Amino acid sequence: MSAGLDITDVSATAGGESILNGVTMRALPGSLTGLIGPNGAGKSTLLRATLGLVPTTSGTITFVGNDLPAMPRRNRARVAAFVEQIGANEAQLTAREVVMLGRIPFQSVWQAEPSPEDEQIVTEAIAAVDMSGFEHRQYNTMSGGEQQRLQIARALAQQPRLLLLDEPTNHLDVHAQLTALNLLRTRAQSGATVLLALHDLNLAAAFCDALVVLHQGRVVAQGAPQDVLTPALLRTVYNVDATLVSHPTSGRPMIAYNLPA
Ligand SMILES: Nc1ncnc2c1ncn2[C@@H]1O[C@H](COP(=O)(O)OP(=O)(O)OP(=O)(O)O)[C@@H](O)[C@H]1O
Ligand SMILES: [Mg+2]
Repeated sequence: MSAGLDITDVSATAGGESILNGVTMRALPGSLTGLIGPNGAGKSTLLRATLGLVPTTSGTITFVGNDLPAMPRRNRARVAAFVEQIGANEAQLTAREVVMLGRIPFQSVWQAEPSPEDEQIVTEAIAAVDMSGFEHRQYNTMSGGEQQRLQIARALAQQPRLLLLDEPTNHLDVHAQLTALNLLRTRAQSGATVLLALHDLNLAAAFCDALVVLHQGRVVAQGAPQDVLTPALLRTVYNVDATLVSHPTSGRPMIAYNLPA
């Protein structure tokens, strides 16, 4: 057991097919852990299984020793927040109301309205994703990137010790991508365990402390980005030719893809 998220020998099936096959991985507090792998590798399934949203056929999933999928929903929501790949379409809510959803696990059933503390947390979360000024807009009329930023803010407002995000940057412009990942890294540095599925391997290499590579439902590598991202792995897992270079200032690995002839 670690102080973070421990996934041990987890398998899952869907539609009669094996989707996850003996997945063992760890995400530690204080770290930003990237879950990478090609389309269909099982990333979303693993994140959903972690929260008990899809059934597993074997294995254990614990956070700080507690069986996460088995926890009552409200208790789990006080610990773990999730930003899904395809954001829920919160009909008829304003942007601020969507972010306020993150406070529900902490509100008592007889509480008529959010507390001043809830309001302050929500204001800060909205500011953190650069969405102040959009608060009274109708959520379902907002752009994909604006909605995604608000979903990140909703998760931050939950003040989770475990934060799971499924491709949180896929709709974001480059500035918003860097801002969001920096924000998540800061949360990790202040003690949260953050696990996020990412497709952009250069962003993953630039921001993540550790990477877990899923391929066909199995973990094929995990460790520091510079150890995991090798030309051989990129060839076998992603079927791409690439050269690894170092970022001129950070020294982090950067992938230069060799274009097909
Ligand atoms: N309910 C289901 N029934 C049948 N197959 C499923 C079901 N859910 C997931 N799968 C399959 O499981 C595999 C893994 O899906 P998953 O969504 O976890 O992949 P992913 O790594 O998140 O991919 P992407 O990068 O495209 O988001 C895919 O082949 C998918 O079609
Ligand atoms: Mg997915």
